[in-house]
Amino acid sequence: MDKKIIIAIDGYSSCGKSTMAKDLARAIGYTYIDTGAMYRAVTLYAMRHSLIDGDKVDADALAARMDDIRVTFGRDAATGLPFTQLNGENVEHEIRSLAVSAHVSPVAALPFVRSALTRQQQEMGRAGGVVMDGRDIGTAVFPDAALKVFVTASPEVRARRRYDELKAKSMEASFEDILKNVKERDYIDSHREVAPLRQADDAVVLDNSHMTIPEQKEWLLNEFHKATQA
Ligand code: DC
Repeated sequence: MDKKIIIAIDGYSSCGKSTMAKDLARAIGYTYIDTGAMYRAVTLYAMRHSLIDGDKVDADALAARMDDIRVTFGRDAATGLPFTQLNGENVEHEIRSLAVSAHVSPVAALPFVRSALTRQQQEMGRAGGVVMDGRDIGTAVFPDAALKVFVTASPEVRARRRYDELKAKSMEASFEDILKNVKERDYIDSHREVAPLRQADDAVVLDNSHMTIPEQKEWLLNEFHKATQA
């Protein structure tokens, strides 16, 4: 049997990376790892401990507590779906709120947060057989990944998708607020000093603004077969 590779899926927020990555992982029998969820869980921890005030993060206090923050993934026995745990508590629903989305970029820009989570991600993917989705997987976490995909779509298309997703879960949302949040996160994610969002030189680009989910799946499976047969 072929050696199990590492698949890095990076790109802008809300461009459907996680749906694609999850689908691909299921189809090829790999483990899906949502690294954005890890940054979101650390952000939730900081919010709960009043370490965030407006757009200011108390970096010193958060740094002092990093060893107390454990982010892991569980799997729902009934649905088979993965969920994110913060110190053992299932926080999957809470980390998707607009409040967490609004605060996550400054937390994800902190070098000590990135180095701690990068180390954990490298450990999780060490043996291969993972589809890891994030912003810096192909550039910083696994620069030697056998397949790197960079996903993009227009900010309006992405805001519409996030809006529909929140509405479907009956969560509070306004399209304008979401669009603003998407643009702000694009800016912060691609301009931070440590591991900014950028396309790896050897990544294949997927602009899925006008693609259906089955079309994206077919495209990805094709890239996977090319990478594993190379
Ligand atoms: O994919 P997402 O929207 O759940 O990610 C949440 C935030 O975490 C996003 O604003 C950027 C940050 N992030 C990151 O900096 N590096 C990653 N590997 C994954 C996410």
